[in-house]
Amino acid sequence: MPPPEATDPFALFDIWFAQAAQSEPNDPNAMTLATSTPDGAPSARIVLLKGHDARGFVFYTNTLSRKGGELAGNPRAALLFHWKTLQRQVRIEGAVESVTEAEADAYYASRPRISRLGAWASLQSQALPSRAVLEQRLADAEREFPGDDIARPPHWSGYRVLPARMEFWQAAEFRLHDRTVFTREGGTWLAGKLFP
Ligand SMILES: Cc1cc2nc3c(=O)[nH]c(=O)nc-3n(C[C@H](O)[C@H](O)[C@H](O)COP(=O)(O)O)c2cc1C
Repeated sequence: MPPPEATDPFALFDIWFAQAAQSEPNDPNAMTLATSTPDGAPSARIVLLKGHDARGFVFYTNTLSRKGGELAGNPRAALLFHWKTLQRQVRIEGAVESVTEAEADAYYASRPRISRLGAWASLQSQALPSRAVLEQRLADAEREFPGDDIARPPHWSGYRVLPARMEFWQAAEFRLHDRTVFTREGGTWLAGKLFP
């Protein structure tokens, strides 16, 4: 449970994330990313957290995907972690910006070769007529980049969610859960509790 005097949401996130890495059988870094459609409807999917610090929370994707289009139209998002074995939830909300080219290059270069080629092959979120079309596009990418020097596609990059609000939820007996909410006011964070 977060101590009542917790004042730094990033420090608390670090503790909870490290504990999740120990406890969760799969993908402790999986988080729901909620965006909004042009007409204001919510839209959600899972992505993987690939970096975080006091600036924000980073994930990588195809910028021409549905989520990429939605973020171009409304660069605001919500992130949600649910760590089932710890009975914890973290909610993060804020504006979204692109990571730098250098950051995207560095993370792209760390990915396995086929994943890098897959970023060229996949027209993420577009209609796929058949699996054979994807396999053909992957074969085309392999021919174009026969070695390990695979350029990062211009449409593949990362986004950073810059939190303005972070909430930490810990289950407690009889559903009298503990909720600590942090809101950013200028350069500082205000902490408070919420009814469960
Ligand atoms: C565990 C898990 C991790 C995922 N990680 C990512 C990711 O890091 N980046 C990504 O683009 N899609 C990831 N996906 C796929 C997305 O959920 C989604 O299907 C895809 O990004 C297309 O979403 P969109 O049509 O809203 O753009 C992941 C899915 C799961 C289930």
